[in-house]
Amino acid sequence: RKWKGTMTEVYSSIHTENDKGEYGPTLLGSIPYMSEPEALEALDAACEAYDKGQGLWPTMKIADRVACMEKFVEEMKTKREEVVKLLMWEIGKNLPDSRKEFDRTVEYIYDTIEDYKQLDRDSAKFEKHGGVYAHIRRGPLGVVLCLGPYNYPLNETFALLIPAIIMGNTTLFKPAKHGVLLMSPLMEAFQKCFPKGVVNILYGRGRLVAGPVMKTGRIDVLALIGNSKSAVALQDQHPHKNRLRLVLSLEAKNPAIVLPDTDLDLAVEECILGTLSYNGQRCTALKIVYVHEDIVEEFNRRYTQGVDALKFGNPWEDGVKLTPLPEPGISDYIQELIDDALAKGAKIINEKGGERSENYIFPAVLYPVNKEMRVFEEEQFGPVVPILPFKSIEEPLDDVADSNYGQQVSLFGRDIKTLAPLIDRLVNLVCRVNINSSCQRGPDVYPFTGRKDSAASTLSVHDALRSFSIRTFVASKDN
Ligand code: G3H
Repeated sequence: RKWKGTMTEVYSSIHTENDKGEYGPTLLGSIPYMSEPEALEALDAACEAYDKGQGLWPTMKIADRVACMEKFVEEMKTKREEVVKLLMWEIGKNLPDSRKEFDRTVEYIYDTIEDYKQLDRDSAKFEKHGGVYAHIRRGPLGVVLCLGPYNYPLNETFALLIPAIIMGNTTLFKPAKHGVLLMSPLMEAFQKCFPKGVVNILYGRGRLVAGPVMKTGRIDVLALIGNSKSAVALQDQHPHKNRLRLVLSLEAKNPAIVLPDTDLDLAVEECILGTLSYNGQRCTALKIVYVHEDIVEEFNRRYTQGVDALKFGNPWEDGVKLTPLPEPGISDYIQELIDDALAKGAKIINEKGGERSENYIFPAVLYPVNKEMRVFEEEQFGPVVPILPFKSIEEPLDDVADSNYGQQVSLFGRDIKTLAPLIDRLVNLVCRVNINSSCQRGPDVYPFTGRKDSAASTLSVHDALRSFSIRTFVASKDN
């Protein structure tokens, strides 16, 4: 479908030379930003395809829905080179990680198909309790609005969209501002493989396209990976908020806690990976590092040496780990956090820390950080690392308990007798405790969720199918 929209230019965070010989953000293409009536037309298409549960898609045989998804994934694979290139240019993710994101998504779709078939085998069964026979089924929820983040514009958007579709829901999805162009080739594949109205794209600013759609009250599920401000704003626009199902993955401030008996080389290596993969722009990134006071000096020495050795450059260059941020505004925010911490007594302890030219900013390692500093509390989502020394383990544990977030923790240490009781405490504060390794979402079969402000509902190959469906059953006193 060709939307008229207002053609809006999309720029890359990567600076190149233009026709006039000047360096600046690279123009990649244009997207037809939709008007409100066009967004509502897309909603109509999704509602018609669902047709109050009577539509072709929600009533289609499982095997036929699987066939559509299988056709789609084969079609998607033919677009790998194009999508990977756009991923790299649109969000500045390095080439190996851009390829990984694509391949992980393909894998995710295959695994979802298999899990869906298994779910169907498990669900479609008869049970008898207290003289009542039941035929249990799993059914769709309705019309789902999906919004994905810029840091995994493909993988995370699809981690919502694919399970929502295969469960028989119809969908609208709004790609992130950065990572929108790569959806164009994939939309072609969706249109080729699914009946009309099952997958609908919303191009444009969230406020202008997703907002009006929510206001109609015709959305049954809000699925969003991003920040809680956007999630709350969208929920608030729904006239029957209590009816709205939520599948949300939001902010986190995952800490690393490094105990005195730690294998320091391992902890440093994992902390570098955890804090700075994709410049720290991951919800699972380690965003605060607590190190026991007995080893903090040595930890800082090795950690900063490792950080300064990371190669900074454009994403297609060999061995590049650090890349430009998607827009200068993000670097300004990182700069604010750095300036605030410096004014309150922290120092940048790595030689290259904070070197900057617009959206090219080298990670700053801040030490010692305290609770008065903004970087202690706020989710930085970028290249600045706060390190805090601690004397008693109760200090980081109290902070984890008091935090607004509760996604994951990384715990580093050798002695299992020390670690075991800490693990028991931490699993009741967060949803995943990583021992001697950095935090991460994958492998995608494991539940991905969080406590407090970090999430609502659970994602993973297995869980997402359940998050986007409901168990229903037909009951009878006769078998
Ligand atoms: O932004 C949050 C992502 O879910 C992180 O995923 O741990 O696979 O990098 P990841």
